[in-house]
Amino acid sequence: TGTLKLAVIPGDGIGQEVTAEALKVLEVAAPAGVKFEPTRYDLGAERYLATGEVLPDSVLAEIREHDAILLGAVGGKPGDPNLPPGILERGLLLRLRFELDHYVNLRPSRIFPGVASPLAAPGEVDFVVVREGTEGPYTGNGGSIRVGTPHEVATEVSLNTAFGVERVVRDAFARAQRRPRKKLTLVHKTNVLVNAGAVWSRLVAEVGREFPDVTVDYLHIDAATIFMTTDPSRFDVIVTDNLFGDIITDLAAAITGGIGLAASGNINPDRTAPSMFEPVHGSAPDIAGQQKADPTAAILSASLLLDHLGYADAAAAIETAVIDDLAARTAGTTRRTSEVGDAIAARVGS
Ligand code: NAD
Ligand code: IPM
Ligand code: MN
Repeated sequence: TGTLKLAVIPGDGIGQEVTAEALKVLEVAAPAGVKFEPTRYDLGAERYLATGEVLPDSVLAEIREHDAILLGAVGGKPGDPNLPPGILERGLLLRLRFELDHYVNLRPSRIFPGVASPLAAPGEVDFVVVREGTEGPYTGNGGSIRVGTPHEVATEVSLNTAFGVERVVRDAFARAQRRPRKKLTLVHKTNVLVNAGAVWSRLVAEVGREFPDVTVDYLHIDAATIFMTTDPSRFDVIVTDNLFGDIITDLAAAITGGIGLAASGNINPDRTAPSMFEPVHGSAPDIAGQQKADPTAAILSASLLLDHLGYADAAAAIETAVIDDLAARTAGTTRRTSEVGDAIAARVGS
């Protein structure tokens, strides 16, 4: 019981539309005695274009004081000369992940009953990608010289610390141990990225000794995309670096019913700062503002949020409502974003 302070960052494009539906569902899913207190933060392209601000330090300090963060998506209209790529992605989304130490980027994938996969015979698909969230090529460790000349040199150096790799690997093992199949697959590119690869391989072997009942497997990232397409049921828990995890989770979404269903949590397992929950998809400028976006990914992200805060029953109620809604969807018919949210909220409330 008590008050749950939620920082809500709808962001850009369909982020606005899907976040409204996630909030709608959260309101009806609130456990007895728990009151949500959402605070809306208008961060994103509009704010940046109007004021030049991306994430002021004072706003970050306020966001820190919440129990959890619900985020829609960030990213402006493509080709806008006033909004170069990366400004919002790096300055807002990645800054939040880094500053709040979201080192576990949790991305579950399941084929829910009745949901069509583009794969002819996908089998039983239920795996989770534990994507490292604070390191890899994402840290801004690099730069450009001789810009615009034929001698331009550009680097993005992948950062892999033993500390950073060990903590995410341990989290992934612990998750694998709690699942029936107890299987962990390291996905990397140790045959080429030999320095980072050695750190990941060594720490998986070392930490694995603490989890003798977990089976360990390894795949190179390129081969992993083959198996995710030809035999996705082989996966249980995947642990991988920030960039490989980004790519493979869009593929995972595609094979399990589409990007509109893929939820994620940016988790700070040590709880030194609020964790952040968001759909895997982006701002989808191609369909933004038209009520065409599927809010299911955002709604399932809200379920992950409740689960993280310890409200397992309320989280399960949302998931069940989504599963029932998915099973009731009829091919060929389309609903507006708000209609999907209404339908799921009604099921949670019933
Ligand atoms: P995207 O995920 O926004 O869109 C890819 C495709 O999927 C588009 O055709 C889009 O219409 C469709 N799609 C996405 N979400 C959907 C939904 N809920 N329902 C139905 N269709 C959906 O990826 P993109 O086009 O590569 O990126 C657009 C912008 O979003 C870029 O600025 C990018 O940097 C940003 N982005 C942000 C996040 C985030 O905030 N976490 C994630 C990915 C991309
Ligand atoms: C995601 C997105 C982000 C990422 C971008 C927008 C920074 O693609 O959440 O998957 O690469 O992590
Ligand atoms: Mn992505």
